Amino acid sequence: MTNERALLERTAEIAARYLDTLDTRPIRADADYDAMLAAVDRPVPEEGLDPADVIEELARLAEPGLVAMGSGRYYGFVIGGALPSSLAADWLVSAWDQNTGLAQVTPAASALEAVTGRWVLELLGLPAHSSFAFVTGCQMAHVTSLAAARHAQYDRIGYDLPARGLAGAPPLRVVVGGKRHVTLTRALQLLGIGAEQEVVVPVDDQGRMRVELLADILAGDDAPTIVCLQAGEVNTGTFDDLATGIAVAHDVGAWVHVDGAFGLWAATSPGLAHLVAGHADADSWATDAHKWLNVPYDCGIAICAHPLMHAAAMEYAAPYLDVAKAAERDPMGFSPEFSRRARSLPAWAAIRALGRRGVAAMIESSCASARGIAEGLVAIPGCELLNDVVLNQVLVRFEDDARTSAIVAAVQQEGEAWMSPTVWDDRAAIRISVSCWRTDEDDVRRTVAAFARAAVAY
Ligand SMILES: Cc1ncc(COP(=O)(O)O)c(C=O)c1O
Repeated sequence: MTNERALLERTAEIAARYLDTLDTRPIRADADYDAMLAAVDRPVPEEGLDPADVIEELARLAEPGLVAMGSGRYYGFVIGGALPSSLAADWLVSAWDQNTGLAQVTPAASALEAVTGRWVLELLGLPAHSSFAFVTGCQMAHVTSLAAARHAQYDRIGYDLPARGLAGAPPLRVVVGGKRHVTLTRALQLLGIGAEQEVVVPVDDQGRMRVELLADILAGDDAPTIVCLQAGEVNTGTFDDLATGIAVAHDVGAWVHVDGAFGLWAATSPGLAHLVAGHADADSWATDAHKWLNVPYDCGIAICAHPLMHAAAMEYAAPYLDVAKAAERDPMGFSPEFSRRARSLPAWAAIRALGRRGVAAMIESSCASARGIAEGLVAIPGCELLNDVVLNQVLVRFEDDARTSAIVAAVQQEGEAWMSPTVWDDRAAIRISVSCWRTDEDDVRRTVAAFARAAVAY
């Protein structure tokens, strides 16, 4: 019989030891995927193993292939780390193992989720009456919000989408910016809205939708329409002019959805909130807690200003559930998932630990680090800054694609920091996303120094 307590304490020790290495271990993994697969690929074991030995084995096997994503010098994609509070809460979520679908069945988790959602609305400056769902990530938040949008736009023209389905429905027009995130298109496709139904609005040199073109694009067609705006472009961190875009779209009865995977968190800081001006007038928003709120994977948030449309798009019915359905908020009623973990609780813990001021300070600190990195990098001969560093994203390149690629590869390989290669204006570029709560001045200094070393070598 396993001693469960001893197992969990040992697991906590292994986890803490890993976290202790974050400041000193290489950010990249030592072993690549092929090496890892070769090391772990085995047939189904015939016999079991004591759980304590299983955990030791798991930790030993995984170690060479772990990437220090929680380090203050991991700047890849837009990832974020895990605050101590949110990490610890995540452990409790697993220990409690509450299938958080129905309020009466999981009262603690459901009530905490209701409050977490309210806190998020308040922090992000969104309408208090909005509905929300805690989903796996921003992409699924898009799916959820856009399902509500699709439902509402068909409802507007009297077409019963849940009953009649998409086949035979009048076409739905979706207007997007040229630099929309790939997950938006993917979410639309999951909802049966094809790439050719996307009307693409050109963008400016920072990736902002040219909203001055929107009125002409929308004019003279009252088809069901969804306009997707962006708060935080993945390469530059730039924001569409939300106030103008929303007003123009609403003039023709369109639904406005905002992709704010990380950028929406600018609303939490008095000094940055101007970037999202007007955002509260949109109809739905998608964001992540697992990026900039520094909650462990996975936690995205779909938010909708029209709770009835949101709920109608997620409608489910089963007599065996009706007996447990609550008059109050059932998480399942707003989420595309049926069974689901209580993934809002780590977000609750993060906000509880930081408070309103702490959340703002974390966001502002990332932005200050991004500016510090940008300043350091442009001082390196040949380095060109490609974006206005308005948020947490820094976009640079060197004289030509070969040097840019060589330098980012060298920095990654040295292990001091990790950032994503990207493409901007058809040329190789390097994107540095500062999204981890741990990033401090020393990380900024070490990152710039790593680039300087690589620039001398290549
Ligand atoms: C602007 C934007 N939207 C959506 C996403 C997708 O988020 P997720 O990976 O949580 O689905 C990202 C991810 O980086 C993003 O930057």
